[in-house]
Amino acid sequence: MNVTVFGTGYVGLVQAAVLAEAGNNVACIDIDEGKIARLRQGHIPIYEPGLEPMVKESVANGNLSFSTDAAIGVEHGELIFIAVGTPPDEDGSADLRHVLAVADTIATHMAEKKYIINKSTVPVGTADKVRATVEARLAQRGLGELAFDVISNPEFLKEGSAVADCMRPDRIIIGTAEKASEQKMRQLYAPFNRNHEKILVMDVKSAELTKYAANCMLATKISFMNEMANIADRVGADIEAVRRGIGSDPRVGYQFIYAGIGYGGSCFPKDVKALISSAEQLGLSAEILAAVESRNEQQKHYMAEKIIAHFDGDVQGKVFALWGLAFKPNTDDMREAPSRVLMERLWEKGARIRAFDPEAMEECQRIYGDRDDLELCGTKEAALKGADALIVATEWQQFKALNTKEIKGLLSAPVIFDGRNQYDPGEIAEKGFHYYCVGRPNIQPSKVTAGHEA
Ligand code: UDX
Repeated sequence: MNVTVFGTGYVGLVQAAVLAEAGNNVACIDIDEGKIARLRQGHIPIYEPGLEPMVKESVANGNLSFSTDAAIGVEHGELIFIAVGTPPDEDGSADLRHVLAVADTIATHMAEKKYIINKSTVPVGTADKVRATVEARLAQRGLGELAFDVISNPEFLKEGSAVADCMRPDRIIIGTAEKASEQKMRQLYAPFNRNHEKILVMDVKSAELTKYAANCMLATKISFMNEMANIADRVGADIEAVRRGIGSDPRVGYQFIYAGIGYGGSCFPKDVKALISSAEQLGLSAEILAAVESRNEQQKHYMAEKIIAHFDGDVQGKVFALWGLAFKPNTDDMREAPSRVLMERLWEKGARIRAFDPEAMEECQRIYGDRDDLELCGTKEAALKGADALIVATEWQQFKALNTKEIKGLLSAPVIFDGRNQYDPGEIAEKGFHYYCVGRPNIQPSKVTAGHEA
């Protein structure tokens, strides 16, 4: 099928690459000339496992092309995806400017029936706004009778496994009232709907709300566990034991109940805020979501509080090795990353950071530029040299196995602050470390090592 994707960000680019690989002819359109030029040269603007070879192969065999020419894009695609950003407005609501601008562009150039598909995460009612925008432009062009449909087809990909999620979706949501649209979408997604039925057809508004409900539910699970971790801290319980205890109930499940230093990324913080704002506009108060958001904001300060308390309130001139900058492993994305709140809080207090991340170093440099209190180190070991403590902010695989002997030799004091509960408190303490984690008793070396070699 001939498909056009407006927007070469995370969602658009991955979707385009996966559809091209499945044999469709896909044109990607973006207004950012520099980005399109770089994509044409094979430069992929994001780090995402498997994406680069997939894009290069489809470009080489002619199934994938990049352009800034919207007219060509509209002419090309019978199915046209809108996959542009919906950044939060000042009040937290989703800014639909880019989505509606694309809708207007499509209507400006279309000369035959088009299926317009909303892939961007948009508030309920956006499909109606897209429809109104298209109708207005078509009427102005004297083409009021030209047929089109606006379909909601939200994306559920996770950063770091975006390609795999897109290739093997656990559900494909299609929001439309038109039989013809349903058929087109079923045809498009047939290669991804093998083995068992994953397509769920529903009305447009339910499809739009499903996306927000899914992300808000997951964010709620995380904030709930973080709240339990804070209680565990106070009562001396171990959140990891509690996690296993409640996860074993299939109604709760093991996924997304890891306590930590807060959720980040481009989706959860933005979508929780947007749904709160939508509820407010409807005269409702989204009390649960407001609490989810507020718990997360506080949780991002959790480890900084522990660090500052460990140093009796004074971290002026202290140097911290920071492992992990990305908001989660397997991405270079630092949007809303807990590491940022942590670093900024420590900088405020006069501390210095020596950071290492397997992928997000360039991004960190882009965000913070050159500053005296930040050193970006080439390896995780280099970050440790002479530091007063190690902080782990992202659970990258390469941080999981600790060479405690080497770490002890490199740090000026054996102290670890683990924001992702990666290590066994007893084992670490036995090696002579002060070990702080989230919602687990802080075991001091002296207590555990009594009778052992410290
Ligand atoms: C999320 C959704 O998972 C995805 O379905 C949606 O389409 C987009 O938003 P993503 O933002 O890429 O994907 O990241 P995800 O892996 O879901 O993690 C989100 C955040 O939650 C991360 O900061 C992660 O560290 C945190 N998290 C996750 C926890 O703190 N605890 C958990 O148990 C799980």
